Formats: sequence, structure tokens, C-alpha cells
Amino acid sequence: MHGPLALVLFAASALAGPAIEQRQATLSLDEFIAQERRIAVAGVLANIGPDGASAQNASRGVVIAGPGIVNPDYRYTWTRDSAMTIHAINEEFFVGNASLQSTIEDYIYAEAIRQTVNTPLGDLYPWGTGLGEPKYQINLTRFHGVWGRPQPDGPALRAITLMGYIDYLLDNGGMAQAKRIIWPIVVNDLLFVAQYWSIISYDLWEEVAGNSFFTIQSMHHSLVEGAHMATRLGYTCPQCESQAPQVACFLANNFWNETGQHVLANINTPEGFSRSGIDSNFLLGAAENFDIDAPCDNAYYQPCSSRILASHKAYVDSFREIYPINAGRPANGAVATGRYPEDTYYGGNPWYICTLNAAEVLYDAAAQFRRQGQLTIDSTSLPFFQQLYPSAAVGTYNAPSGWWQRHSWGWSRWGEKTWGKPSWWGPGRGYGRGRNGNQRGSAFTDILASMTTYADGFVSVVREYTPANGSYSEQYNRTTGEMLSAYDLTWSLAAFVTMTQRRNGQYPASWGLRDVAPLPSSCNTAGAGPQNYAPAIEAGAPPVDMSCTVQITFRVNATTTFGTNIYISGNISDLGNWAPDYEPMTPPSYPIWEAIVEAPPNTVVSYAYVQQNPANYTFEVGNRTITTPDCGNGRVQLSTLDAIRGPGTVITENYCNPDVTRCW
Ligand SMILES: *[C@@H]1O[C@H](CO)[C@@H](O)[C@H](O)[C@H]1NC(C)=O
Ligand SMILES: *[C@@H]1O[C@H](CO)[C@@H](O)[C@H](O)[C@H]1NC(C)=O
Ligand SMILES: *[C@@H]1O[C@H](CO)[C@@H](O)[C@H](O)[C@H]1NC(C)=O
Ligand SMILES: *[C@@H]1O[C@H](CO)[C@@H](O)[C@H](O)[C@H]1NC(C)=O
Ligand SMILES: *[C@@H]1O[C@H](CO)[C@@H](O)[C@H](O)[C@H]1NC(C)=O
Ligand SMILES: *[C@@H]1O[C@H](CO)[C@@H](O)[C@H](O)[C@H]1NC(C)=O
Ligand SMILES: *[C@@H]1O[C@H](CO)[C@@H](O)[C@H](O)[C@H]1NC(C)=O
Ligand SMILES: *[C@@H]1O[C@H](CO)[C@@H](O)[C@H](O)[C@H]1NC(C)=O
Ligand SMILES: *[C@@H]1O[C@H](CO)[C@@H](O)[C@H](O)[C@H]1NC(C)=O
Ligand SMILES: *[C@@H]1O[C@H](CO)[C@@H](O)[C@H](O)[C@H]1NC(C)=O
Repeated sequence: MHGPLALVLFAASALAGPAIEQRQATLSLDEFIAQERRIAVAGVLANIGPDGASAQNASRGVVIAGPGIVNPDYRYTWTRDSAMTIHAINEEFFVGNASLQSTIEDYIYAEAIRQTVNTPLGDLYPWGTGLGEPKYQINLTRFHGVWGRPQPDGPALRAITLMGYIDYLLDNGGMAQAKRIIWPIVVNDLLFVAQYWSIISYDLWEEVAGNSFFTIQSMHHSLVEGAHMATRLGYTCPQCESQAPQVACFLANNFWNETGQHVLANINTPEGFSRSGIDSNFLLGAAENFDIDAPCDNAYYQPCSSRILASHKAYVDSFREIYPINAGRPANGAVATGRYPEDTYYGGNPWYICTLNAAEVLYDAAAQFRRQGQLTIDSTSLPFFQQLYPSAAVGTYNAPSGWWQRHSWGWSRWGEKTWGKPSWWGPGRGYGRGRNGNQRGSAFTDILASMTTYADGFVSVVREYTPANGSYSEQYNRTTGEMLSAYDLTWSLAAFVTMTQRRNGQYPASWGLRDVAPLPSSCNTAGAGPQNYAPAIEAGAPPVDMSCTVQITFRVNATTTFGTNIYISGNISDLGNWAPDYEPMTPPSYPIWEAIVEAPPNTVVSYAYVQQNPANYTFEVGNRTITTPDCGNGRVQLSTLDAIRGPGTVITENYCNPDVTRCW
């Protein structure tokens, strides 16, 4: 039985007037959060096929981004959102909601299939390029629209989520299932990351081409955990072992703006890209890749690192003035926050995901300090700490003595709770000042308490803009706080769930950051080279065509105006057999548009570029040809660099190819 029932029942009672009043006015923050967590879990489940009430026609295990089809159309499924959502569901399952296991297993099935879909970036076999596709139809078929491709955070995040579940299985007698069903999916993702981690790609907001902090940090996490997990399963992942230190090196050396004292969200961006670089990208990265046992040093950008805390301040401050709903809030308190200050999507508004992550990262950081029993403030993090605790100074604050406490199951640090223990502490217990006589008056505990209070402030801001039924959209209006854009957004609801888990002291298992080797002395971005990809048949993947193909990267120089895009069309199946709108191109280095296709060997391929206008598809005049060679070792790659020609055939009306997305 899935969630919609619970949601409907709760929503029905919450919609009644007095209940709204009560939720807004009389519930404590703890009570509000406990209620909202149930609503959020149920809301997430409503957006998962095949049984979710809002996920009609979605295939089994498919997480839809949202049920709305206008403003904007989110009835699609993204690899990234799905992985992050099931990451949250995994942890709800681990803390005892046994009924969620079938949802997780449905997700595994869906992802085995998703890996094999023929995409505008190619396929799983032989190059793995298809795994970089961000977006699919909800029945797990190809999405043909022009989009920001590739987005290689998807495979990294999916591997992380699946390994989280493998970790559970290994503790619960599931070794065989882990090896036979799940690991083959994870292996494809890890190999993809090892091969392609440094490529120019689009960020999590699908807007900026370059290398994105969130993506690189998630990739590093996947490779480190992949190497450990392989060992636990009795395998090895040499590609994980060779590439993880290189990704770490890249992460450590490229994403810090020393002048601005904040993380730079995107680097290697196109000429003319001019944002401050302050972007919630870093918050989502630090939260998703949080490791409770990790060190705080800056190289890894964990929540407790000085660089993440300084970035938190720069990020939050960047929204204080620009959103009218923040007027009148204390200068050192929590405010509504969005993706990045320059955002203009729907007018540029606060996002629930982002404000919730502003809280989550602080709960994470406090937990790491608590786990370590000490907190070091340096000149980078000093401004962050001083806004919360004016007498904060550079130096190390130690936990008071008497820090350890005894439970029926063993010892833990004071105030810390971990999931999976028999004497799980409920919400609202444990944190706080002076519960234990010898904590009273300690600067260490006072600083942590002020961080937690500050974090709670962001949750309170979200609470102010929580609708009666508790179901979050994507954004809330910068002036009025009204919900905007994409109602019942799965990712917003999942972000509430993970925030709650961290606030309640539930942490995902460590992914091994504490034990990584020191950074290499010189970095290398070459990647691990071509890998062998194969469908995860036992998990439900269909067998894919493994005949030998030649990879062609088509590139064309085409200047376009707003609302026009470029497709490529031609006489092989990956070029849509002359359909004008089958194979979209992407402009990571505009005005050069690119598309990757797989062509049969020893073939003359006829092709032409097509401009997609608001009301027609205009073929360039004349056809071009490229001839593929013998397949050789199956690793043959060709590329073109063409200049688009003037208009030829125009397709305007009555065009309807059953294989494509548009008909007139
Ligand atoms: C546990 O999961 C079920 C769905 O399987 C859901 O209906 C229920 O609300 C969840 N319980 C909590 C406390 O979130
Ligand atoms: C689901 O599919 C059926 C049959 O194609 C269609 O009639 C219905 O409108 C679809 N539902 C949604 C929500 O798209
Ligand atoms: C999958 O969904 C797309 C978009 O709704 C639709 O055009 C296509 O026919 C469906 N494919 C299958 C095999 O059901
Ligand atoms: C770094 O920060 C400074 C100060 O905020 C800003 O002027 C500069 O543009 C930033 N650099 C980059 C590369 O974004
Ligand atoms: C936000 O609210 C203001 C004031 O009502 C309105 O003018 C504006 O259009 C709203 N923004 C969006 C994106 O709807
Ligand atoms: C909750 O209410 C909003 C309007 O405030 C609506 O758009 C949304 O669909 C509702 N969600 C649910 C699950 O009832
Ligand atoms: C693309 O075309 C423009 C206009 O013809 C030209 O100025 C530019 O150099 C071309 N770029 C490349 C990379 O060929
Ligand atoms: C594509 O068209 C060219 C030119 O007409 C032809 O020589 C070639 O055989 C065709 N290729 C395929 C795969 O049909
Ligand atoms: C196709 O669309 C473009 C841009 O909207 C327009 O300039 C052109 O005239 C159209 N062509 C035809 C034949 O309708
Ligand atoms: C290009 O190929 C298409 C599809 O075969 C054909 O209809 C068209 O006549 C060709 N155009 C030229 C200029 O050869």
C-alpha cells in the first residue's frame, strides 16, 4: 500500500479551517515538523508509479518530478530528482517504515530499465553516453526535446542511493540480492563517472554548461563509496580507486572564490557567463554528500568545513535585500532563500528545496562537530560564527567533559542519536542547552545550540509559507510568499524529509571520507577511458542491441534567436529516419551545437540540420553525407564541424510522426 491514502486522509483534515489555524498558530515547531514529515512522505509516494495517486500512467518505480503539466510541465522523470527522492525514502525505511521497501525495490527495477533507454546522447552500449541523459518520459521512453545535456550528476546520485540500500541489505542477509540485482546497475554508473567525470556538462538547475560543484562533489562521493562497496561485496573497482583522488583534487582546487569567500557553483563556463557564483548548488552538494564521520577540512567541502559555513553566510546574505518577504527579519537571522540571487525563472523567487537545505546543512555541521567533540573556528568561518555567537573567536572549542552518555545499546556522544539503534530517541529530545549539568555554560554547546536555533529559523520560514494541505510547490513568491511553479513537487517534499531526518539526528551511513588517501600532488582530468557497459538484466533491464556501432559527434555552428533550437535529422534510426524533431542538439559552447549518435559501420549516412522555430521546422538546404568506416575494435569515433546553411524544406502543418513529440 502506497502513500496517497495517508495523504488524502491527512489533507482532508488539514483543509478544515481550525486545523489550519492550529498548524500555523498553536503547534510547536517540533509538532509541525512531525506532522509535515508524514505529509511529505505521503506526497512523495503519491508521485511514484504505478500506484501513486498523482502518478497515473507512470511506469513501476518511476518518480515523477511533479504532477503538473502546465507552468511548467513537470510530468517527466529526471534521474537526479528520482535518486535524491529515493535517498530520502531509503532512510525513512531504515528508521522503521517497513512498508517503504517495495517502493525502493520498484525504483531499482525502473532504473535498470532507464539505463538502457536510447537517448539523444546515445545508448548504454557501447559508450555509456546515454547515462548522461537527464530527463525521460514517465513510461521510461526517450525525451526528444532540446535540453541541457548531459547532466552526469544523475548516475553518481543513483549509485549513491542504490549503495545506501545495498548497505542495508548487507546488514540484513541480502548479499545475494545486492550482488545479483543491484550492483550491476551501480557498476554502469560508477564506470560512467570514472570515464566522464570531467566533461563539460550542465548543472543541476539545467542552465549552465561547465563543471558544477554539486556534480563533482557527488561524483567524488560515488567513487569513494563505490570502491568501499566493491570490497564489501568481494569485488574491486579499480576505476573508482584511480579516479576518486583525481576528482577530489579537482574539487579541492577549483571551486573556491577567495575574494568573495564562497564556493563558486560553476567553473569552465562559457565566455560571457557572469554570475557571482553564489548558488545553493553548494548547499545541496554538502547536504547530499554529508558524511557524519568526515573531517571538516576544506578540501572535501563537508557541512562542517569553514568554506561551506562561510558560503552559507554569503549565500543567505545575498537574499536578505532582494526578496521583499525578507524585509524586517533580523540581520543575523534566517530568511527565505532561493537558487541564486541572479535567478529570473518565474521572476526569481525563493525555493522550498533551497531554504530547507539551508537548515539541513547546519544540522549536519552541528552533528559533525558534536561527533568530533570539538569545533575549530578560523578566519574563513569566523564571520559565520560571529553572526550567531558574537563572542566567537578564532580557535578550537572543545566539548565539555562528561560528553559521553550511556544507553542500553552502548555509548554515544551527548545529544547525538543514530538510526537503527533499539533505543531511538524521538524528535525534540537530546539537543539543547544544559540538559546535562556539566554542559551548562560551555561555549562549545552554546555555539552548537545557536547553530541549531539558526537552522530552525529556516524551517520556520518555510513553515510560514506552508499551504493548508502541506504540499509544497517549487517556489514561493518573493513578494507575497504564495506558492508558485510546479505544485506538489516531489523534490520539495523529499527535501523536507531529509531536513527532518538530520534535525532528528538520523544520519546516513558514513561513505568513507574519513579514510581517503591524501590528495595527489598533481591533478589529472583525463578520466578512466572507455569502459564496458552492460544492461542489468537480472534487475529487469531489457537486453539491448549490442551490435557494433560507430559513434559520431555532430557539431554545427548555428546562431539562433530566443525560442529557436537546432535538431539534426538523417537516414539512420538515431537520426530519426528523417523525422525533423527526433535528435535534438545541445549548445554547451554556443554557437556550436552538438549531438552524439551511434551509426552502423560501413554506411553512408545522409543528414541535415534543422532549425526548430516556434511554429515550424526548417531544414537547411541540401543534404550532407558522412561515411562510417569498418567497426574495428568497436571504439571508432567520428566528428563533424559544419556551418548551418540557409533554409530549405519547411515543415509547418499536418506533420505528425508517431515516434516524435509534436504534431500539428
Ligand atoms: C510509512 O510509509 C507508508 C507508505 O508505505 C506511508 O503511508 C506512511 O505515511 C509512512 N509513515 C510515516 C510515519 O511517514
Ligand atoms: C493516462 O493514460 C490514459 C490512456 O492513454 C489517458 O486517457 C489519461 O489521460 C492518462 N492520464 C494522465 C494523467 O495523463
Ligand atoms: C510513452 O509516453 C510518451 C509520452 O506520453 C508517448 O508518446 C509514448 O507513446 C509512450 N510510449 C509507450 C511505449 O507507451
Ligand atoms: C569572486 O567574488 C568576487 C567578490 O564577490 C566577485 O567580484 C567575483 O566576480 C567572483 N569571482 C568569480 C569568478 O565569480
Ligand atoms: C508575486 O506576487 C506579486 C504581487 O502579487 C505579483 O505581482 C507577481 O506577479 C507574483 N509573481 C509571480 C511569478 O507570479
Ligand atoms: C495542495 O494545495 C495546493 C494549492 O494550495 C494545490 O495546488 C495542490 O495540488 C494541493 N496538493 C494536494 C496533494 O492536495
Ligand atoms: C561560427 O560562425 C560565426 C559566424 O559565421 C563565426 O564568426 C565563428 O568564428 C564560428 N565559430 C566557429 C567555432 O567556427
Ligand atoms: C542514406 O542516404 C544515402 C544517400 O541517399 C545513401 O547512399 C545511403 O545508403 C543511405 N543510408 C541508409 C542507412 O539508408
Ligand atoms: C518558419 O518560422 C520562421 C520563424 O518563426 C519564419 O520566419 C518563417 O517564415 C517560417 N517559414 C514558413 C515557410 O512558414
Ligand atoms: C535530402 O533527403 C531527403 C530524404 O531522403 C529528400 O527528401 C531530399 O530530397 C534530399 N534533399 C536533397 C537536396 O538531396
